[in-house]
Amino acid sequence: MTASNLAPNSHSCSRFAAVIIVAVSSQRGMFITFEGLDGCGKSTQLERLGSNLRERGLDVTATREPGGTPAGEKIRQLLLDARTVSLDPYAELTLMFAARAQHLREVILPSLDEGKILLCDRFTDSSEAYQGGGRKLGSAIVLELHRLLCANLQPDLTILMDSDVATSVDRARRRNQAKAAPSADEGRFERENRSFFTRVHASYLEIAKREPQRVVVIDARGTPEQTHAKIVKLVNPKLESLSPSRRTLGVR
Ligand code: TYD
Repeated sequence: MTASNLAPNSHSCSRFAAVIIVAVSSQRGMFITFEGLDGCGKSTQLERLGSNLRERGLDVTATREPGGTPAGEKIRQLLLDARTVSLDPYAELTLMFAARAQHLREVILPSLDEGKILLCDRFTDSSEAYQGGGRKLGSAIVLELHRLLCANLQPDLTILMDSDVATSVDRARRRNQAKAAPSADEGRFERENRSFFTRVHASYLEIAKREPQRVVVIDARGTPEQTHAKIVKLVNPKLESLSPSRRTLGVR
């Protein structure tokens, strides 16, 4: 995990950056993010990996975006509620970052500082894919906000679960319809059309191409068991970089 390109332009900003640098440089945890289209199965895979790592004695925190904190969950409700209409794409993007800034300081950095393995369902790649690509805001503004508000914190590993656009989105819509009471409809993004999700998908693949050392594409078209096996195989060598005491517990 690295934080770079800090360019504070005010006293408060530099203090914020300093807090993050200290937290980042002293951490010994591991930050793993899951990305992919709605309905690709990433939440299930995150849970399964979490259970697998916990069974091996590792200290794991699972969290999600948007959300992961009390304030962030309120922002999530606003963002995902199908009744939130006519939200400007820039408002949408900055709300994602408002939730993320809170999440970073309240959950992500403290967990990593305590040496935990942090599994996060979505992070800034989602903003780049959905708002940058899907909403056509472009990558530059997303990367700049990430640099300014999140100290350019990068996950140690991002698992991009690649799936068919139509299959994933259909599955997400069915799941949402099955579970949602009208007051809890989290389907605002699932109402987008096929071309929106095709742009999201293309953006994800561009990120993976740009940052192959961080982002690993996993074919998620197989059974959940097959996908889980691929993910465990991918994560195992990464555990080698954990401190020796936890490594002996963790890798087998
Ligand atoms: P999520 O709960 O992960 O939905 P699913 O389980 O269906 O994948 O994510 C909620 C939605 O929020 C999802 O449609 C993607 C969207 N999103 C963005 O558009 N930008 C972001 O930065 C994040 C974190 C999520």
